[in-house]
Amino acid sequence: MSTRQPLTEIAHEGWLPYLKPGSWAIDATAGNGFDTEFLADQVTKSGRVFAMDVQECAILATRTRLENASLIERVSLVRADHARIRDSFACGMRGEVDLICFNLGYLPTGDHNITTSRESTVPALYESLLLLKPNGALSVIAYRGHKGAQEEADSVEGFFMKLPAPWKCVQHVATGTEENPGPVWWMASAR
Ligand SMILES: C[S@@+](CC[C@H](N)C(=O)[O-])C[C@H]1O[C@@H](n2cnc3c(N)ncnc32)[C@H](O)[C@@H]1O
Repeated sequence: MSTRQPLTEIAHEGWLPYLKPGSWAIDATAGNGFDTEFLADQVTKSGRVFAMDVQECAILATRTRLENASLIERVSLVRADHARIRDSFACGMRGEVDLICFNLGYLPTGDHNITTSRESTVPALYESLLLLKPNGALSVIAYRGHKGAQEEADSVEGFFMKLPAPWKCVQHVATGTEENPGPVWWMASAR
C-alpha cells in the first residue's frame, strides 16, 4: 500500500475506539513522546499513561514534551526494557489496560544502533496480552529498513498470525513496495 498519511497518524485514528476518559494505556517505546502525548490527551485527567523506554534520553524527551503540553500529571515514565513490561507495572494492572502500543526501531534523534529487537519485542508482545482488558487493543508499528528490522518485522508478523484466542488481528497495513518496504502496522483485539 502506498499512503501519503504517516502510518503513525493512521494508527492513532485506529486507537480512538479503545480510548476514553479514564482509560489506562501503555506506550512500550516512549521515544520522543509523540505517541505518549496523543494517549495522554485521549485518556484525559481521570486516565493514566505508562510510558517506557530503555534510554534515559528518551525518557527525558518524553517528559519535556508532556510538561510542555501540560499533560505530565497523567503520565508515569519508566526506564526499562519492555521485555519486562509485566514486572515494570503494578500487578493490579493485569487485565486492566485499554491500549498498549509499540513503535519499534530506533530513536530518530538518538543513537541509531540502539534499536528494538525481536528477542525482546516478541516476549513483550505476549506479556502485553496479559495486561490488556478483554476488549483492549495491542498496536505495533515495525520498520523494515535498518539492520535487523526485517527480521523483527517478520517475527511480529508471525506473532499476529498465531495470536492465542480470543485475540485476533483487526488491522494490518503494510506500506512501501517490494523493492522499498515501508513501515507496517498491526493491531490485535478480542472485540
Ligand atoms: C521509533 S522510537 C519510538 C517513537 C515514539 N513512540 C514516539 O512517539 O516518539 C523507538 C524507541 O524504542 C526504544 N527501545 C529500544 N529497545 C527497547 C526496549 N527493549 N524496551 C523499550 N524501549 C526500547 C528506543 O530507545 C527508542 O526510543
